[in-house]
Amino acid sequence: MPLPPGPTAHPVVQMARWFRNPLPLMDEAHRRFGDAFSLRLAGMPAPLVVVSHPEVIKEVFALGPDQAHAGKANLVLKPFLGVHSLLLLDGAEHLRQRKMMLPAFHGERMHAYGRSMIELAHHSIDRWPIGQKFAVHGPMQEVTLQVIIRTVFGIAEGPRFAELADLLTRTLRVATRPGLLFAFMQRDLGPMSPWGRFKRLAARTSGLLRDEIRSARDKGTAGRNDVLAMMLDARDEAGRPLSEDEIHDELMTLLIAGHETTATSLAWALRWILPDAPLVQRLRQEIAGAGEDPQAIGKLELLDATVKESLRLQPIIPLVARILQEPFEFGGLRLPTGTLVTPSVYLVSRRPSLYPDPERFVPSRFLTFKPAPWEWLPFGGGLRRCIGAAFAMFEMKMVLASVLGRVDARLASDNVRVTRRAITLAPSGGLPVIVTSRRPREAVASRTAA
Ligand code: HEM
Repeated sequence: MPLPPGPTAHPVVQMARWFRNPLPLMDEAHRRFGDAFSLRLAGMPAPLVVVSHPEVIKEVFALGPDQAHAGKANLVLKPFLGVHSLLLLDGAEHLRQRKMMLPAFHGERMHAYGRSMIELAHHSIDRWPIGQKFAVHGPMQEVTLQVIIRTVFGIAEGPRFAELADLLTRTLRVATRPGLLFAFMQRDLGPMSPWGRFKRLAARTSGLLRDEIRSARDKGTAGRNDVLAMMLDARDEAGRPLSEDEIHDELMTLLIAGHETTATSLAWALRWILPDAPLVQRLRQEIAGAGEDPQAIGKLELLDATVKESLRLQPIIPLVARILQEPFEFGGLRLPTGTLVTPSVYLVSRRPSLYPDPERFVPSRFLTFKPAPWEWLPFGGGLRRCIGAAFAMFEMKMVLASVLGRVDARLASDNVRVTRRAITLAPSGGLPVIVTSRRPREAVASRTAA
């Protein structure tokens, strides 16, 4: 049985459009072909079957570890994260490592990170220029990088951590060049070539991570409650620990997947919040009531709705992928084993039946509408749902509360486009903004206390 229909343009043309900005291509194909269509992208081993009906997505997310694989669909990340990365594993091995990592990102543990998220956000805000245009994506990246380093290693001070932060920033600057995702660009032509530079930076980062793993193992983990210590202590059902290679690749995954994504989502959130003066006003009132208490900020309803709405309107990852390990039937179609099924995060979030007037930024819709996991999927779903979802949303709230509480700012340009940073879709130019005024932190804190 054939795959669902789709655009007939040459695969090279489809890939070029996909690469530039996949959203208009998905919109167009959805308008023409409906809730299931195929895209043929040059360089991909199989066509992508893009699905956007929530009921079909529900079924895709319900597929078991031996029915659909995500790791094989993420192979493009291998040079960046390593073969043992959770994002690249499948089947039993994926479940084993996922179970060992999940506890680090749960409830109470996560709240313990709230204070440092707020501290680091204020430290950044203190240095923002007043009255001058600057790209806010950079500072957001600095904050989220410091947060994840602190979360993973427990502290973020000392020369080793400064070196790690510097290396990761430089590695990402090279690695997020979209062209490097193509195998033909991955050639080491010396230290000045993009891939050569990336390989050298990645090797130095690896060296630091391995030093850190060995030193933590030698010293023991007593009294530590960071993610590295948890990974060293974790045992699977057979009582086996994670190997050094496994821990290394998972650290790399958390450090990279755990900060670039959140920084870009924060930049998008500001893109929608800043021009909406009445919303800023209402958020400020709500935030003032919570002071700097991370738990209280985490529970603010309008802030929560605002974060969810900005992730809906502008998902940074437009689809998630599964490779079928057995045939999958829906809507009269039977997709064969090996098909790449891709629930579209983007198209679901633009369904008027779920989100009336879907192009508009309306945070209040999430005050009353509680979507099912297959109706709002910026973090994917099922067995592969992002393990950092709660952490990322919590961090976004801490940072946005800190920014909005102290800073009056506006976008420097109305023309904000979608640009690609390797895997993620980011606001163009790093989202230039202009801060018009900044209150001292103490003034905000004392007004809250009064
Ligand atoms: C706003 C920020 C973030 C977004 C939008 C995001 C999005 C995603 C998406 C779409 C997936 C794939 C899910 C699927 O295939 O169904 C994913 C997986 C993953 N994310 Fe995130 N993520 C974010 C933040 C984080 C953070 C903070 C961490 C860690 C601290 C993290 C770690 C991971 C890992 C390890 C996986 C692989 C899960 C697995 O395959 O079992 N992410 N994320």
